Amino acid sequence: DAGHYDNGGYEHYLLKEISEQPDTVARTLRGRVDDRFHIAHLGGLNMDARETRSFRRVKIIGCGSAYYSGQIGAQMIEELARIPADAEPASEFRYRSPVVEADTLYVAISQSGETYDTLAAVQELKRKGGRVLGIVNTVGSAIARECDGGVYLHAGPEVSVASTKAFTSTAVAFALLALHLGRVRDLSPADGRRICEGLRRLPEQIKEILTMEEQIRELAIKYADAPGMMFVGRVRGYPVAREGAQKLKEISYVHAEAYPASELKHGPLALISPELPTVAIVPDDELLDKNLTTLGEIRARHGRILMVGHRTSEQADDCVVVPKNEVELDPILLTIPLQLFAYHAAVALGRDVDKPRNLAKSVTVE
Ligand code: AGP
Repeated sequence: DAGHYDNGGYEHYLLKEISEQPDTVARTLRGRVDDRFHIAHLGGLNMDARETRSFRRVKIIGCGSAYYSGQIGAQMIEELARIPADAEPASEFRYRSPVVEADTLYVAISQSGETYDTLAAVQELKRKGGRVLGIVNTVGSAIARECDGGVYLHAGPEVSVASTKAFTSTAVAFALLALHLGRVRDLSPADGRRICEGLRRLPEQIKEILTMEEQIRELAIKYADAPGMMFVGRVRGYPVAREGAQKLKEISYVHAEAYPASELKHGPLALISPELPTVAIVPDDELLDKNLTTLGEIRARHGRILMVGHRTSEQADDCVVVPKNEVELDPILLTIPLQLFAYHAAVALGRDVDKPRNLAKSVTVE
């Protein structure tokens, strides 16, 4: 119940929770980054080194934003630990008859730790002998108790229905898990060091993004009257696009669709017009040129573009330039302007920001 927690003088819990992220990320990292051996300390995993090396696959489950943060996590684990990894909505997972394998590491994500779909999926996995870790915010919650071990976010209570700080901290927890799995396999000390240093830079970089709030507010007001918005990103940018669309639709009720940028030409390009602006996630990574080509294709159809990335581009109508980290960690930072964008769009449209219609903070029913 929101009544138990102080809103810290902010007009909405959502803005408070967005603004807290330099601290909450620091808390998720505290005591877990080892700068000497360039490894992560995750004491709660309850796995010895032999077991940690034995997994051939990672399967991540969660619902809604937890699922999207799991997609970011899967990408990090594949890149840093070179273990095939993917994410699936826990709600779908439990309704099919998934093959549960002994050499797969299952990871369940939940801010509340009480989401029924996720809990039921974990119970089904356990029944079939699966090894399940939890990435959970609420200590002692049902999902945390059900899992074999895991990582607590330590992000503090999240009151606003739309998840922000828990999403970011989950992505940070996955970076730690990917570093841990990578360093007991074949991630080099040099790459380990690069990731440790990148993780340490995050809180300051988040502070820097928060100083851009006024610019983002003006952009949110400019775009908020569009009947719908498209969000696109490639590979690392795609889950960021999905989370950006989720935040916008959830609290502003503006229709938003997220697509992999590479899929536009296979259908949704037909939707592009001045009435459907696009938010494009364009990090400075190996896919930069491909993403800029996509912007050109959108522009040729008279679509307006708000680009979120590490540079400006003449292809875009507006650009939000965020600080650059290591490519694997960039999704963590790229999501934050989208939280502010959704927040200010919702405020501009007069929505009930902290308690959007039809939604509950934790979905404890089937
Ligand atoms: C996030 O903004 C949503 N309100 C929702 O998708 C949420 O992430 C989902 O219901 C999962 O909740 P949990 O993390 O508490 O399990």
